[in-house]
Amino acid sequence: MAAQPQDQPQLQPKDIVKPDDQSTWETAWQKGVTPWDAGDAQPSLKEAVKSSGLDLPSSGRALVPGCGSGYDLIYIAQATGLSCLGLEIAETAIKKASQLIDEAKAKNSNIFASISNQDFFTFNPSESERFDLVYDHTFFCAIPPPTRKTWGTQMAALVKPGGHLIVIVYPIFSPYTPEGPPYYIRPEHYEELLAPNFEKILDKVPEVSSPSHVDKERLVVWKRRV
Ligand SMILES: C[S@@+](CC[C@H](N)C(=O)[O-])C[C@H]1O[C@@H](n2cnc3c(N)ncnc32)[C@H](O)[C@@H]1O
Repeated sequence: MAAQPQDQPQLQPKDIVKPDDQSTWETAWQKGVTPWDAGDAQPSLKEAVKSSGLDLPSSGRALVPGCGSGYDLIYIAQATGLSCLGLEIAETAIKKASQLIDEAKAKNSNIFASISNQDFFTFNPSESERFDLVYDHTFFCAIPPPTRKTWGTQMAALVKPGGHLIVIVYPIFSPYTPEGPPYYIRPEHYEELLAPNFEKILDKVPEVSSPSHVDKERLVVWKRRV
């Protein structure tokens, strides 16, 4: 009997996204291979903002590198009042996020959110444009491991002294393997990069995780040393 479509293994981001070709991100978006896209803000982000007890900023600027459709970006703008900028390199994601931002602004004109077609690694704002809050969900696991050191130096350059970096450490699989989605991570992979410039002020398993994240994530917040 001929193989049926439902018998075919589902494509995963690691089958499409290649470390030496950033245009493969657009391919993943065009093929709809976007399992990271929850269609809503992450519950762990909501916990960080609403019930962590942390003194997160309520004015200033926030950055979401690799923001995808922008659900988390829009949530941060709505919930904190910060002016939020998302960075993306995939046209399809940019179109989707722009549309969602427009819809959110139509409902609430006090939302300040935008998206820019820019590579995180070459993003170089002036000192006065540094951010009060930066948020990473599934961006760190999306970048090739040899670029992680630069991710750390970029975060130190982009977060203002005294500013915050919220990291959803996901997906945590044991044992560690360098196989995707697109790259696996361990909590300690962030530590070695951030500890020289940031103090860790929260590290916990979130009270509520989205179904795909149950038992596979930690909510970690870092404060940039002055
Ligand atoms: C795994 S997805 C996560 C999207 C989003 N953070 C979310 O949680 O829904 C990673 C995103 O980062 C984008 N991306 C990859 N490398 C990038 C880079 N160097 N600069 C900016 N965006 C990048 C990809 O296009 C993709 O949309």
